[in-house]
Amino acid sequence: MEKKNIDWANLGFGYRTTDYRYVSYFKDGKWDDGALITDPNITMNECAGVLQYSQSCFEGLKAYTTEQGHIVIFRPDLNAERMESSAKRLEIPVFPKDRFVKAVEETVKANDAWVPPYGTGATLYIRPYMFGWSPVIGVKPADEYQFRILVTPVGPYFKGGAKPITIRVSDYDRAAPRGTGNVKAGLNYAMSLYAIVDAHQKGFDENIYLDPATRTYIEETGGANVIFITKDGTLVTPKSDSILPSITRRSIVYVAEHYLGMKVEERPVALSEVKDFAECGLCGTAAVISPVGKINDHGKEICFPAGMEKMGPYTQKLYDTLTGIQMGRIEAPEGWIHVIE
Ligand SMILES: Cc1ncc(COP(=O)(O)O)c(C=O)c1O
Repeated sequence: MEKKNIDWANLGFGYRTTDYRYVSYFKDGKWDDGALITDPNITMNECAGVLQYSQSCFEGLKAYTTEQGHIVIFRPDLNAERMESSAKRLEIPVFPKDRFVKAVEETVKANDAWVPPYGTGATLYIRPYMFGWSPVIGVKPADEYQFRILVTPVGPYFKGGAKPITIRVSDYDRAAPRGTGNVKAGLNYAMSLYAIVDAHQKGFDENIYLDPATRTYIEETGGANVIFITKDGTLVTPKSDSILPSITRRSIVYVAEHYLGMKVEERPVALSEVKDFAECGLCGTAAVISPVGKINDHGKEICFPAGMEKMGPYTQKLYDTLTGIQMGRIEAPEGWIHVIE
């Protein structure tokens, strides 16, 4: 296969139409066989459930080329499981886990010319998504659904090294105590747009949300879970029923315990104790770990000793180990890496 003629290292994080996408239709109570198609456009009724009541959920994962030249994906079974819980919470019929993984593999394989080469820092972003597309006017679930996967190449998250970011404590809430914060519903992101635009206008990179019931505990940002490192090298990460169970965060916890011998605490983390941590990072598929230099709490700055220049030493070790596993430089735990070709 000949790769597309793209300046991979200078790609941004944007959508680009690739050659194939996957689609399966749910009708009369069952999913059809699914197929790869070439048309990137979707035509639907004006009253489709997704358009009127936002009945949709999605996932995000990446394919990349390892040092050995294989195209691989990272723990897609966990994306399948998370999409299953998102679908159930939104009254969308579940797309079976084994079919999800196979469909991701098929879509990546069909678009192998778009998978960035090893060493460029770029990856192929994979976006599975589901939505109600038959008409509904009364508030109720749609009868018919689509499960789709699109892929698009994206550039390196950190160009010229990871620079720590500044985030602010948000006055808006991201999730209600028994709401949809723990699933990847499109509606969670629609309602975060106002807060993120406002944060950017005020010079912050991201919003960090507090627990909506008491506004005393750290939850997560709009698109990533949070990790902290104590002064004596313990990894602390917030535990809450209203945050998204990040696959990157769960992998980092495993790497910390089993590869680096670190102590890990998953527990509620109060905003008032954040000043005592040595390092802070945001974790998610896009950046793996994005270092945080400063949290701004209504004008009061909490600065992490690791500073604004580079990642702290523990964050760096976690980042290097996890990306080493992903890129085939370090042996992966059983089942983490799916080789596509
Ligand atoms: C709200 C939110 N939290 C956390 C994450 C990180 O999850 P993952 O590591 O599975 O990409 C994401 C990104 O998917 C997200 O949107």
